[in-house]
Amino acid sequence: MAGPAMRGARAAFLDLAPKVETFRDAVIRGLTSRRKSLPAKFFYDVEGSALFDRITALPEYYPTRTEIGILERCGPEIAAVLGPGVQLVELGSGSSVKVRLLLDRLAGPAGYVGIDISREHLRAACDRLAAEYPGLEVLALCADYMAELVVPPPSTGTRRRVAFFPGSTIGNLDPEEAQGFLARWRPELAGGGMLVGVDLKKAEATLDAAYNDAAGVTAAFNLNILARINRELGGTFDLSAFAHRAFYNGAEGRIEMHLVSTRPQIVSAAGRRFSFAEGETIHTENSYKFTVPEFQRLARGAGYRPERVWTDPDGFFSLHWLVAG
Ligand code: AVJ
Repeated sequence: MAGPAMRGARAAFLDLAPKVETFRDAVIRGLTSRRKSLPAKFFYDVEGSALFDRITALPEYYPTRTEIGILERCGPEIAAVLGPGVQLVELGSGSSVKVRLLLDRLAGPAGYVGIDISREHLRAACDRLAAEYPGLEVLALCADYMAELVVPPPSTGTRRRVAFFPGSTIGNLDPEEAQGFLARWRPELAGGGMLVGVDLKKAEATLDAAYNDAAGVTAAFNLNILARINRELGGTFDLSAFAHRAFYNGAEGRIEMHLVSTRPQIVSAAGRRFSFAEGETIHTENSYKFTVPEFQRLARGAGYRPERVWTDPDGFFSLHWLVAG
């Protein structure tokens, strides 16, 4: 079946059967703790992913278009720095949109590996990529990129492996977790490195607006996690009794998102009951912002050499090339 005529028509698929915390366990753990919280990664069900796509197109939400602008403007230089024969490994590849901007400019890439825990979404995206780039060896690797992981090498020898981690997703981790994550990846990237997108510190009003858009899409995105609990875990959340709250915590250098209970209430979900005081919040996301030197210090602490950084003219977003020694 997969004869020469089929080359590039479909991506290879490798399932490492990632043992990820179930939504149910995370909800019970998060809603029974003294300060209620839910992991931000559970925002991205089908509805949440569609809402996030709408966020990226909002006038107030600068990160996505700014990072794409950097990739477009600095792409040739980035490709030159990464060099020829790169095996490009995308962490949390999702729809694999931004990576095309790199693949179009890289000299003779040795392969592309998309890593994601969302099996079907991953396969579909990698199949599309394989069809669009007929000469490229594409592997869809279903795995948890936050866990310990060994990436198969490309079938023809590679000069270097480069991990691509765009979107400032790294900002969802606490700085210590971010450093641990980078350190875990370093041995896999020895001789190559990581290209990582990092949102930068800026005027608080700009940050606040990006997470409190006038159209209310970010509020809907935040509230969707409660709707997801209702859909998947038999939850009884009244979405009109919770309010979106996002603000910049200057001391911590992060945007925090919360869902605020607007009245005392008891909610059932996953066979349990959770009580909320009026004004009590569920902390749903942190989105850390860095200065360039702050992020470079974090990367050095994880064993990388920060060699290049590209930013936009406003200094809103940064793309770091971290060499893994
Ligand atoms: C995808 C994690 C980078 O933190 O800006 C957007 C997610 N949350 N609006 C971010 C998000 C609210 C986003 N990241």
